[in-house]
Amino acid sequence: MIKLQSQLPSMQLEGKTVFLRADLNVPLKDATIVEDYRLKQIKPTLDYLLERQCKILLATHIGRPTEQEARLSTQVLVPWFKEHGYTVSFASSIEQAKELMQEDDKNIVLLENLRFFPGETLLNNAFAHELKELAEVYITDAYGTLHRDNTSVSKLPYLFEKNERAIGFLIEKELAALNKLLEAPKKPFLMIIGGGKVKDKIPLIQNLFPLVDQIALCPAIVYTFLKAFNYKVGDSLVDEHFTTKVCDLAQQAQELHVQLWLPPDFLVEENGQLSIVPIGDFAPTARGVSFGPKTVEAWTDSINKAGTIFLNGLPGRLSKPETLTYYNELVKIVADSPAYTVIGGGDSVGAALKLNLQDKINYLSTGGGATLIYLSGEPLPGLQPFE
Ligand code: 3PG
Repeated sequence: MIKLQSQLPSMQLEGKTVFLRADLNVPLKDATIVEDYRLKQIKPTLDYLLERQCKILLATHIGRPTEQEARLSTQVLVPWFKEHGYTVSFASSIEQAKELMQEDDKNIVLLENLRFFPGETLLNNAFAHELKELAEVYITDAYGTLHRDNTSVSKLPYLFEKNERAIGFLIEKELAALNKLLEAPKKPFLMIIGGGKVKDKIPLIQNLFPLVDQIALCPAIVYTFLKAFNYKVGDSLVDEHFTTKVCDLAQQAQELHVQLWLPPDFLVEENGQLSIVPIGDFAPTARGVSFGPKTVEAWTDSINKAGTIFLNGLPGRLSKPETLTYYNELVKIVADSPAYTVIGGGDSVGAALKLNLQDKINYLSTGGGATLIYLSGEPLPGLQPFE
């Protein structure tokens, strides 16, 4: 567990130039922002710096471009800043950023998508030095990207002296919220876990085994467990490489007295039609999409009695709302439960925001992969310069 407070309050920042690495990798559709949660979460740090008359070089990546894809330009973020009262200029190159950083009249210079520069993902020294030239101080609030060994995340901070680099208020908030899951969580601790990749969830399950009491396994990862336990799963997504591993996990759960829950019913899709089937009753061509109403009913009482709930991974598809009916019901019950509740993962947070549950969930993490890695007890390369 890492306990860190932002070093911003102890820094002399008045009038300084600041490189602010943020994670503004927001969902986009047709060049518009679908959901601005990550942008809103950066405001406390941004405003703090602006109140101290800092000139800010704001840098982020968007997506995973393989070339300079216009649709992934950070220019798409400019209107959001303007609508929220910020003065922003846009720099498409490092040279332009350098020039704009020397001007007095604009307080934020937004750099083009960092991943348009080949040096960003290649951990390139020369690129790190080019970025270093842009500012006197380095601040990171890119919580969602801390697990990426990218130049601006894990290399650039080391080019600044210890007293010239800091984490921002968002990272401080994320760590504090997640540490409540790791440090004496209120019991019973229920983890509701789904999403596509079993491989990414195994270290998380293993690391939290000593802390949790119940693990509710949801689509899609649950199909690999079902297959391993000899249930019929039809055409559902199974990772055959992990069937032995999940049997070992089930054994471990038994030894540690952790309950593993399987949904008693499933929402399946066959020939474009959605229907509900009981566990084990999948037709060969039926593909599991989510769980069904009996699952919500079966799990409600324990959700209401839980002391802590961590939910990660979205069963169903955000793009097909009818697949989210039962998941949405479950999330509303989680939101109403008196437990300390945390949701992590882009899609599951997106679904909670769509239901307007942000004020009822104790914490919605801006991290997907970063939160999984942190709760799995693995190092975050972007945090190491600050530990
Ligand atoms: C995220 O959305 O999880 C972060 O922005 C990291 O993005 P990446 O998985 O493309 O590195």
